[in-house]
Amino acid sequence: MYEWEALKAECTNCLKCSLGRTRNNIVIGRGDISAPMMLVGEGPGEQEDKQGLPFVGPAGKLLDLLLDALMFKKEEYYIANIVKCRPPGNRVPLDEEAEQCLPYLRKQVKLIRPKIIVCLGSTAMKYIIDKGAKITQIRGQWIERKGYWIMPTFHPAALLRDESKKVLMWEDFKKVRQRLDSICQKETN
Ligand code: URA
Repeated sequence: MYEWEALKAECTNCLKCSLGRTRNNIVIGRGDISAPMMLVGEGPGEQEDKQGLPFVGPAGKLLDLLLDALMFKKEEYYIANIVKCRPPGNRVPLDEEAEQCLPYLRKQVKLIRPKIIVCLGSTAMKYIIDKGAKITQIRGQWIERKGYWIMPTFHPAALLRDESKKVLMWEDFKKVRQRLDSICQKETN
């Protein structure tokens, strides 16, 4: 617990990049810190910056619906972002902003030690999986790395713009549900 508090304090005081000067609130994460699954998005939007919590705006509402529909329990996941401060106008975080912020996310992963990491959209995919990959090409395929099962899928905001992605994202999350079930089953046997 001490390490979490230390991490929170470090993030709250962070001015490593210029996003720290324009944020209203730092957005560290929400969910269970001993969850078997982490979901990683891009960065806070307007609502997230106001409330200090990730995925609480329109994209977050859609994500919650998806997680509820597939019966993910609150204790099964923790949600964070590549950057912890809102990029002005919701632009994509710059490379240097993401690189400055990533050590915090790595620390979160180390503390939570999830079995599964879901990359929501191309920014998460870029910094967690592969800078050169394309989300439309690699989504839905498991990648095993350093003991973590990683699933790249669309960002829920992309679904708000393009309904046709809903079925694909649903399929990706069904795979996540199945793997999580099988991991949890193995652990209880
Ligand atoms: N989009 C993200 O990538 N993260 C959030 O927290 C909200 C919207």
